[in-house]
Amino acid sequence: MSTTPNTPASNRPATAAEPSCKVSVSPHDAPSAPASPAGKRPAPPCTLVIFGAGGDLTKRLLMPALYNLAVDGLLDDGMKIIGVNHGERETSAWRDDLHKSLEQFAADKASTFHAGKLDEKAWDWVGQRLEYMAGEFETDDVFSKLKQKLDQAQGGNVIFYLAVTSRFFKPIVERLGKAGLLKEGEGESGCFRRIVVEKPFGTDLASARDLNTHILSFAKESQVYRIDHFLGKDTVQSILAVRFANALFEPIWRREYIDSVQITAAETIGVEGRGKFYEQTGAFRDMLPNHLFQLLGMVAMEPPNSFDAEAVRDKKADIMHAIQPLTADDVVFGQYEKGPPGVGYREEPDVAPDSTTETYAAARVYVENWRWAGVPFYLRTGKRLAARRTEISVQLKPVPFRLFRDTPVDALTPNVLTLRIDPAHGTSFDFNVKTPGPVMQVGAVQSSFDYADFFAERANVGYETLLYDCMLGDETLFQRADSIETSWAAVEDVLHPKDGGAMPVHGYASGSEGPAQADALLARDGHAWRPLQQAPVEKK
Ligand code: BG6
Repeated sequence: MSTTPNTPASNRPATAAEPSCKVSVSPHDAPSAPASPAGKRPAPPCTLVIFGAGGDLTKRLLMPALYNLAVDGLLDDGMKIIGVNHGERETSAWRDDLHKSLEQFAADKASTFHAGKLDEKAWDWVGQRLEYMAGEFETDDVFSKLKQKLDQAQGGNVIFYLAVTSRFFKPIVERLGKAGLLKEGEGESGCFRRIVVEKPFGTDLASARDLNTHILSFAKESQVYRIDHFLGKDTVQSILAVRFANALFEPIWRREYIDSVQITAAETIGVEGRGKFYEQTGAFRDMLPNHLFQLLGMVAMEPPNSFDAEAVRDKKADIMHAIQPLTADDVVFGQYEKGPPGVGYREEPDVAPDSTTETYAAARVYVENWRWAGVPFYLRTGKRLAARRTEISVQLKPVPFRLFRDTPVDALTPNVLTLRIDPAHGTSFDFNVKTPGPVMQVGAVQSSFDYADFFAERANVGYETLLYDCMLGDETLFQRADSIETSWAAVEDVLHPKDGGAMPVHGYASGSEGPAQADALLARDGHAWRPLQQAPVEKK
């Protein structure tokens, strides 16, 4: 996690030591990066090798993030970006293509990279460092070409970014290892070789273990950066700031005061042409043991002793270990049917007409430790729901004594702290006050904070921090092998029920709040989901 201006560089994790090694392939004629913002230092020089240079991830997220880092002057002049993909093409064609898509995203108000107009100087800086290399990921050819290129450049720091579909993870890492491309320099100041692995990291416990074993037979754990892009979001990182930089919350952040927690990642979009991927994955695998468990980890973890990567990751790993294995009784699956926003899932391209893949999943999760025993964490995610809303709502227990029982007030609205991740960025707090007038009456109000009211909002795609941290060697926001496996272990009984049965999948109308069975899951405990389409608290 990148340091704030309040955090002296000397407090950064030991692993973030900057190798003294330089990449000697720096284009001398390239313009210098603009000056970096106060308190931030540019990343060390490195070559970023992107496998999957022609893919969506490169275009939509990696390039915008690199551009934003260049705008902020956080990349070293010695940086070089090699894009590997199958299919011959000229570097200039790849560069023009990326430029065109950046311009389109920048102009698109619905895009996370809505920068308006591109800063052409920053783009030139990135553009001049791009180089395209054609190659098949499952042949040795491209790896020997890469080796030759990096050897000519006398090595240097290299990040290999696997922006490819998961079936290529193993063959690419194996070939990198066998070609000697993962060999790092000796000592703290030696050159680094890092691999960034995208999700999905396995599809269950056995496949995640197998992938970890395979990768770790060619690289050390400290070289592997497993990405969960939710952790790149400022609003997600801010969960720790809200909890640990304020004296108000932490004393009540425990079972004695907290009634329940709801974690929602609701989307209005459908599968958007990803039918093939989604048919094999489903909403549960796609979102629960990774994104939603990561949010749960941020909410539930104990305060670490420091902000060192290992200190933070150890505390998060403790939570993953404390998650009580989920059973079919704790989980509800749903699938969207035809509704006002569009066709049903089964009518989507590349989806079987009798598909039983879930596009919605809700779960009740317990974290069995001293702080959280007995507090339900309700998680839900789904496509084609009533609203786009990623947020965490922490509901407090009622006050212990109904002081106002003789007044017309017979029930108080519970206090709820909501941390809004996307698309709204901020927090809100529901609480009670006396309403004006001669009668002692209590009414609910909401106090809210919006990032945009305090900070200039950036067209941040979430990968900026992750790329920058990877260059610095800061693994705080990346997932360790053990945590990934523990998360998969917690959902094993849902993915592979012991009785061999399959989870029932309930229909819900596109544009709705989800299946009724998900409401029943909470109703059993006397709870209800917070509506996705929330009416604003009425101002009288
Ligand atoms: C991805 C999932 O990891 O996260 C997608 O594969 C999902 O299905 C996406 O739409 C949600 O991320 P965000 O940042 O748009 O909320």
